[in-house]
Amino acid sequence: MTSIRQATVDDLIYMQNTNLWCLPENYNMKYYYYHILSWPQLLYVAEDHKGKIVGYVLAKMEEDEPAEQHGHITSLSVLRTHRKCGLATSLMTSSHARMTETFDAEHTALHVRKSNHAAFHLYSQTLKYDINDIEKGYYADGEDAYDMRKYFKNRPDKFLSEEERAEKAAKMAAEAEAAEKAEAAEAAEAAEDGAVEEAAAT
Ligand SMILES: CC(C)(COP(=O)(O)OP(=O)(O)OC[C@H]1O[C@@H](n2cnc3c(N)ncnc32)[C@H](O)[C@@H]1OP(=O)(O)O)[C@@H](O)C(=O)NCCC(=O)NCCS
Repeated sequence: MTSIRQATVDDLIYMQNTNLWCLPENYNMKYYYYHILSWPQLLYVAEDHKGKIVGYVLAKMEEDEPAEQHGHITSLSVLRTHRKCGLATSLMTSSHARMTETFDAEHTALHVRKSNHAAFHLYSQTLKYDINDIEKGYYADGEDAYDMRKYFKNRPDKFLSEEERAEKAAKMAAEAEAAEKAEAAEAAEAAEDGAVEEAAAT
């Protein structure tokens, strides 16, 4: 059985190892330490029954836009032998949960190669990320990246489908109507109270 748990400093070397096996985007150990020392809540590993690290998610909170708290997935990978078992989904949802619980994140973001169909399916279909932009030549070999975002709250209108937009508009109209009715009822009550007081005074 494979389990998901928060990463510790001892896991970093194995996370780096997994990254080297799985992705061309690699980082020095200092960068892993920077993540775990700054946002230890956001790093998760998948560990098999023998204690071997078979997957990880390396994530952080973005520091350059403090106005809107948001997370960023720096790297995610699962060893080939352990893919398609739901591990990446669990790693990502664990990190997402801590982004909202601990840091009150509005959304989280990531980059993915346009050709990475497995990861794109995971992000867009399973985890419901939206494409925010396409970054031309983002990767060192010149490939474009999808800049993707998942909103935990207040998903902007530009990401909503026609139906979702119509649903949102209907909900807002219903809320406005309910508020108007409540206001009218309150005014009527106040007028009634005023009339009773006036009658009592005469
Ligand atoms: C992308 C990756 C992390 C997915 O890991 P995983 O543990 O196999 O993913 P999961 O089992 O949680 O699968 C999540 C979804 O993606 C789908 N999926 C996984 N691999 C897929 C593939 N090769 N092709 C199409 N869909 C795929 C699953 O079927 C599942 O879909 P569902 O929720 O609709 O059933 C893994 O393939 C990997 O490590 N790749 C190399 C590193 C990488 O590309 N990292 C991402 C960099 S941005």
